[in-house]
Amino acid sequence: MPLLRTTRSLRATRTTVLAGLLLAGTAVVPMASAAATPLYKNSHAPVSERVKDLMARMTLDDKVGQMTQGERGAATPAQSAAARLGSILSGGGSTPTPNTPAGWADMIDAYQKAATSTGLGIPIIYGSDTVHGHNNVHGATVFPHNIGLGAANDPRLVEKIGAITAEESAATGVKWGFAPCLCVARDDRWGRTYESFGEIPRNAVENSRIIKGLQGRELDDPASIMATAKHFIGDGGTTGGDDQGNTQISLEELRRIHLPPFRAAVAHGVGSVMISFNSWNGVKDHGNKFLITDLLKGELRFSGFVISDWNGIDQIDGQEGFTAAEVKQAVNAGIDMIMVPYDYLKFISTLKAEVLNGHIPLSRIDDANRRILTKKFELGLFEHPYTDRSLQKDFGSAAHRAVARQAVRESQVLLKNDGVLPLAKRDNKIFVAGKNANDLGNQAGGWTLTWQGQSGERVIPGTTILDGIKAGAGKGTVVTYDRAGGGIDSGYRVAIAVVGETPYAEGEGDRPGGLGLDAEDLALLGKLKASGVPVVVVTVSGRPLDIAAQLPSVKGLVAAWLPGSEGAGVADVLYGDYNPTGKLSFTWPKSSAQEPINAGDGRQGLFPYGYGLSYRRHHR
Ligand code: GLC
Repeated sequence: MPLLRTTRSLRATRTTVLAGLLLAGTAVVPMASAAATPLYKNSHAPVSERVKDLMARMTLDDKVGQMTQGERGAATPAQSAAARLGSILSGGGSTPTPNTPAGWADMIDAYQKAATSTGLGIPIIYGSDTVHGHNNVHGATVFPHNIGLGAANDPRLVEKIGAITAEESAATGVKWGFAPCLCVARDDRWGRTYESFGEIPRNAVENSRIIKGLQGRELDDPASIMATAKHFIGDGGTTGGDDQGNTQISLEELRRIHLPPFRAAVAHGVGSVMISFNSWNGVKDHGNKFLITDLLKGELRFSGFVISDWNGIDQIDGQEGFTAAEVKQAVNAGIDMIMVPYDYLKFISTLKAEVLNGHIPLSRIDDANRRILTKKFELGLFEHPYTDRSLQKDFGSAAHRAVARQAVRESQVLLKNDGVLPLAKRDNKIFVAGKNANDLGNQAGGWTLTWQGQSGERVIPGTTILDGIKAGAGKGTVVTYDRAGGGIDSGYRVAIAVVGETPYAEGEGDRPGGLGLDAEDLALLGKLKASGVPVVVVTVSGRPLDIAAQLPSVKGLVAAWLPGSEGAGVADVLYGDYNPTGKLSFTWPKSSAQEPINAGDGRQGLFPYGYGLSYRRHHR
């Protein structure tokens, strides 16, 4: 039969058949012919169908690779593709050269090109710690750390911060942010207190809205990224505030204090949850099946995927490195992807062996892959594996920085004011001093450009607190700065001493020995006090500090926390351009010897949770 007729008759037959099927109410999904693209690559097919089709094509090597996350410094694109890694991360400060949006996009696109041009073409997902903006990248908008956002009491603004953070991350190819930390820090001696929104669950519950900002309306929006609720569970409740220590509390207290923020995160549709380093009553969370599978995946019905923390599974047996037993325990406990981050080849071979010898059921491997691949499809990574560089035009933009400056204003907490604030803008003589007055590194804190952060006047673009004071000064006003207070004399009408902490992250910031001001700050306050000039203290710190002894001799006290790149927002409050609204989300202790001290425990600190003053009248 001539081809035309054949085609026509075939088409006629098919039409009849189709009509019959439709009449019969049978769903008709276009059969993927052998030559056509496989179903999993059909962006119109339901995600669940795409996952099923793809998994049916995957080997055990493919599946084990998907569950493995390597660090960029340990895996080139070719090595990543050869190992079939599911994800690559940047640890704190692990950045490409140049450390620019284009440098990041080139790096991540190279991983994607290698991944999508081998085997089944499964794209990687690239993760980075976007804990206060896309803070690993030079030029990013750096927002106040969570402790300040908690004091701002403005979840709507925090959601906006999430959206900007996501946009600046996606602009560089990072489609997975390891944020927000939803820890409830109970002992301020903990080095990660500043990553906490507050000492009671309410602050983290309300500010978990940042997840909506990060993930956008749809995960596959170009400017959306997948968020991570971390660290599950009890990181802020360790005894003595010992980072990665032992959280010795009842299940009732764990549920009451540390669980509500994760329930809220799941309700927001958070795509991933990171497991915490701490132990709960002596058992490492990374090996705890009750917490991960029964509580998080079962009771909370979390349907995203669970990632371990950095070498977290190595800690299960308390010895260096990971063993087959630890891999088995962690994966069977419910961890879906392991942040290895260096020894990924050994991890892959160990995991594969634990499946082949029956210690880890294939059903667990399939559950993990289903969760991971579902998020990759929902993120649109199969259709758009490469960076949307059109987003780079707004990276670190003035508009983004204006939002950050508003967050700085709202996070300032006025704790004492003997009429010395707000500062007069005109015909004033202001002396500014202190190590944190003119140092963008110190005011940004940890997780900024590097893991630990660093001091440095201009390590990132932005405005220092001194910049803001100078810019706000009006006609006839003199502003003098000297870090150590040199040159102060009774001719000045007010001295602003910006003191506090220098950057740190995680356990490096644990201060079991107390939270007093350092010798430099104490010497400065002594010098300023001796001058007789009224002193306003501004603390730049990741937590409340021991300042009870200094309080009587100062006329004003403002907690600025870690404001990030837009330090001028602090000056907006000092001048009264913004009437302070911030309220403490942490009880301020009389002394750190009182720690842990928290709202509701019936004990009296120096300033209570929720405390914060405003100016009586709006002053110009
Ligand atoms: C760190 C932190 C975690 C972070 C991860 C990747 O150790 O505990 O918050 O997301 O490693 O940098």
